[in-house]
Amino acid sequence: MEKSIGRLFMALGLAFGLMFNVWQPLSPAEAAPDPPALTDLELLGKHLFFDTNLSTPPGMSCATCHDPKVGWTGPNSEINAAGAVMPGVIHTRAGNRKPPSAAYAGESPVMYYDEVKGLIFGGMFWDGRATGWTLGDPLQEQALGPFLNPVEMHNPKEIKVVVMALLRSEYADLFEQVYWDETGEMIDHGKLDVDALYQVIGKAIAAYERSDEVNPFDSRFDEFWRAATAAGFKVEDIKQSNWAGYKPYADGILNDTELFGLAVFNDQAKCSTCHVLTPSGADGNKPPLFTDFSYDNIGIPKNPLNPFYTQPRKINPDGELWVDQGLGGFLAATTDTASDGETYASKALGNYGKHKVPTLRNVAKRVKWNGTEWVDDPECVRAYGHNGYFKSNFQIQDGSFSFTQIHPLQHIMHFYNTRDVPGQGWPPPMPVRVPWPDPEVAANMNTTELGNLGLNPSLGQPVLQFLSTLSDTSTPTPP
Ligand code: HEC
Ligand code: HEC
Repeated sequence: MEKSIGRLFMALGLAFGLMFNVWQPLSPAEAAPDPPALTDLELLGKHLFFDTNLSTPPGMSCATCHDPKVGWTGPNSEINAAGAVMPGVIHTRAGNRKPPSAAYAGESPVMYYDEVKGLIFGGMFWDGRATGWTLGDPLQEQALGPFLNPVEMHNPKEIKVVVMALLRSEYADLFEQVYWDETGEMIDHGKLDVDALYQVIGKAIAAYERSDEVNPFDSRFDEFWRAATAAGFKVEDIKQSNWAGYKPYADGILNDTELFGLAVFNDQAKCSTCHVLTPSGADGNKPPLFTDFSYDNIGIPKNPLNPFYTQPRKINPDGELWVDQGLGGFLAATTDTASDGETYASKALGNYGKHKVPTLRNVAKRVKWNGTEWVDDPECVRAYGHNGYFKSNFQIQDGSFSFTQIHPLQHIMHFYNTRDVPGQGWPPPMPVRVPWPDPEVAANMNTTELGNLGLNPSLGQPVLQFLSTLSDTSTPTPP
């Protein structure tokens, strides 16, 4: 009741503000469009996502490992420069993979086997193990994991999370409201229905992760995509032979190099075979997500600095011999049956070493606080791939090739281009070149769509420039 009165006042205030134009923007920067309003469910999810009191001990939130400022992934340059695995709230403990983006992930379907393609799609995590088979929503299923994971937020039981969110938080009233909306019942504080409360927590976080605030589609690429699409041009058809025809829609948004880079991304570089350019959204009216939620083994080498290798036996029984088998490793442990009547476990062999195709949105986003605002920071290190083997920055000694000349995505790009070319390795133009190490898992490595793309710098560099256009303009701040 109180709430609806508050809303009424807000609506009146808004109408008043519009009528008399009393809200003058203070500066041009503030004239930017308002961030989209969140529903109660999404707003509760936002509070939960950023709340550092929901770990044991307190101090870690989802955003600690999925920071919007660096594309909703690990923000710590020192960690990214090394093992790339974020430590848990118990700092000596660590999982085994780099956090993927928590944004633009919500469209990944419940995991299924596509009989025509013979491939597995969907689920959450690099290996898909939050399949969605239990709750019908992989994102909601995923959201409930980190709270209880001993190498992440380390809560002993669901009730700990529920009680902290319900009784000790600034958003307890909102939680009560949302619980009522979702279940039609009031919370019985005398006898907490922990299961129901915990499910609402998962649902709220998933709703926030799917909100326009987390998926604003407001990068320069998106602006171009909308202009071209409105004019009847299909962005997924762009090629080196027709790219100039798209120029009018890129005017003032993408420069020629970036637009040409998109064309190369889509033809010779073959990136779009996995990081697809097909529109997203239920009606196909949103810009692409740069993933088809399939799985592939691109042959990433081991990251020897992965802290998991030195975790106690209880956490990692295999020690240094541990191998990340990705999707195949997960499938081998399942008992479910796929639509073709075969077990998922029987498909493990064909999927060892495969990881989910990640979105490329925000991959180039690197920032630091300059005292007034977040600015692009070339020294902020990002790590790429499930184990963070690839880095955005390199401290290279040779004066002829200083690290500022390296595009943040050049390491992984050069790998795609030359993995299978004898004599190639990293860094590229140095006299002493370290050959590419062996893949962590040789089985199922994709050798047809990558490894020897034959891109010379005049084709490869534009692709890199293009990837920089995928950074969202807006960056949500904690509630
Ligand atoms: C200690 C760091 C850490 C914390 C805290 C953490 N995550 Fe993650 N997150 C990861 C890592 C690492 C992965 C990938 C794990 C894997 O693939 O095995 C991941 C995966 C995900 C994914 C899957 C994305 C995809 O495309 O597959 C989502 C979504 C996500 N996290 C959301 C959350 C939410 C919501 C919370 C808080 C409830 C959270 N994370 C807390 C590190 C963290
Ligand atoms: C055959 C499918 C496929 C093709 C083709 C492909 N990728 Fe990928 N890409 C993947 C998969 C799968 C991963 C994750 C692999 C892993 O971590 O083991 C990935 C990871 C990445 C990442 C790291 C993202 C992150 O968040 O860690 C970048 C950047 C990337 N690809 C860019 C490209 C570019 C640029 C091209 C074209 C030159 C390309 N990819 C071609 C499948 C593909």
